[in-house]
Amino acid sequence: MKFPDINKCSVSIIGLGYVGFPLAFELSKPQKRLNNILIERKVIGFDINEERINELNKGLDNTNEIDLKKEDLPSLLELTSDVEKIHKCDVFIVTVPTPIDENKKPDLSPLKNACKTIGTILKKRKSSIMPIVIYESTVFPGATEEICIPIIEEISSMKLNIDFVCGYSPERINPGDSDHKLRDIKKVVSGSNKDCANWILEFYKTIIDAGVFKAKSIKVAEAAKIIENTQRDLNIALMNELAIIFDKLNIDNNDVLEAAATKWNFLKFRPGLVGGHCIGVDPYYLTFKAEEIGYYPQLVLAGRKINDNMPNWIVDKLFFIMNKKDINISGSEILILGITFKENCPDLRNSLVINLINKLNKSNMKITIVDPYADAKLAFDKHKLKILKDIPIGHKYDILLTAVGHNYFKNINVLAWKKLIKNNGFFLDLKGIIPRELNPIRIM
Ligand SMILES: NC(=O)c1ccc[n+]([C@@H]2O[C@H](COP(=O)([O-])OP(=O)(O)OC[C@H]3O[C@@H](n4cnc5c(N)ncnc54)[C@H](O)[C@@H]3O)[C@@H](O)[C@H]2O)c1
Repeated sequence: MKFPDINKCSVSIIGLGYVGFPLAFELSKPQKRLNNILIERKVIGFDINEERINELNKGLDNTNEIDLKKEDLPSLLELTSDVEKIHKCDVFIVTVPTPIDENKKPDLSPLKNACKTIGTILKKRKSSIMPIVIYESTVFPGATEEICIPIIEEISSMKLNIDFVCGYSPERINPGDSDHKLRDIKKVVSGSNKDCANWILEFYKTIIDAGVFKAKSIKVAEAAKIIENTQRDLNIALMNELAIIFDKLNIDNNDVLEAAATKWNFLKFRPGLVGGHCIGVDPYYLTFKAEEIGYYPQLVLAGRKINDNMPNWIVDKLFFIMNKKDINISGSEILILGITFKENCPDLRNSLVINLINKLNKSNMKITIVDPYADAKLAFDKHKLKILKDIPIGHKYDILLTAVGHNYFKNINVLAWKKLIKNNGFFLDLKGIIPRELNPIRIM
């Protein structure tokens, strides 16, 4: 069977969230390649969430990854929740979520459902073009070949590398980071055979300016992605543990890190609240697979435990400082700046700031939360938390806690910070954004 024409193929993106929508957007932009060939691909973005499709079609991307006020949807891009519309596509790219369940085990149901959709489409397909299935969702090594491909083969009654080919190319975007967008991040690709891997390599070259790297196999590409985030998680866990130790030693952790960073090979990681659906989740995909084959991954799990426990440590520390300052916990007023899982990003999923607030809520404190990025309706519907977009003017608090380093907070001046705190109050600055002259307490 003939492979699709890279410049003119029809592509479906299955799952239009943080990863899928920017990908659909870039792939559908008409563009010229170096050799002056015009690329015009029909791209159909498919998502089971009708509300998401309606919003995108109205020009609202609530992930903030594409500013639809400034950029129009490309005319070659169609967004739909009607699965029939993707039946005639040649390329199927899967960008559905891969979360964990309440037992911190991989929840592969969205991925399996996407495979079933593709299997059903391939079963009915009548085309002489080789269909190409590419997975971008983060999974453990082996998931594509051991779980995804068998589902497609069973439902479609087709055989891999005869009737269809398959590849894995992990996404590495960093939401909220305008310096590293899809085109600027080197992409890793892999394929079920040599021709497929080469086709996928050339395909992504058309949209990735930073270059494309061909991994030795699908499993290698899967493993590479999972260790990128596991490494980051563990490095932050080490910094968090050091922050706890130095706090007990009465040494300012920031001063220690500043001094240590003067050595050329000291890695500049910082302590922090690890949330979201990547760094705090992906290591569990790796540990799941390791345990499945009989190896207990002590270090990776220890790091996860430390990172997950940080909200408890911060709250205990906060109460300790309040006691020392004779501030009654019950009835005290705290202003919390930021609730999303990371800076300049609206995503609330697995935000550890929510865990921290839930713990504070048990102590009868008066909590005011400000986050200009977070979806206030979602925060209320899902977590029963009221979020303000702006810091209330003219009110003073016992404690001001900076939890997320949104740029918006970094622009506040010394005088404005000062006006927010009562005489005996204090700043607990988790993000290093309060000016040093205001003597913020820095524990991380
Ligand atoms: N967000 C990130 O920063 C990031 C970065 C790199 C990799 N990843 C990985 O990429 C994958 C997607 O992440 P995301 O953040 O874009 O998720 P997301 O939750 O933002 O978006 C996923 C979308 O898929 C849709 N969906 C779910 N099941 C579907 C199905 N069967 N058919 C069609 N649509 C379906 C959902 O409605 C949702 O809109 C995950 O595996 C994630 O780990 C995410």
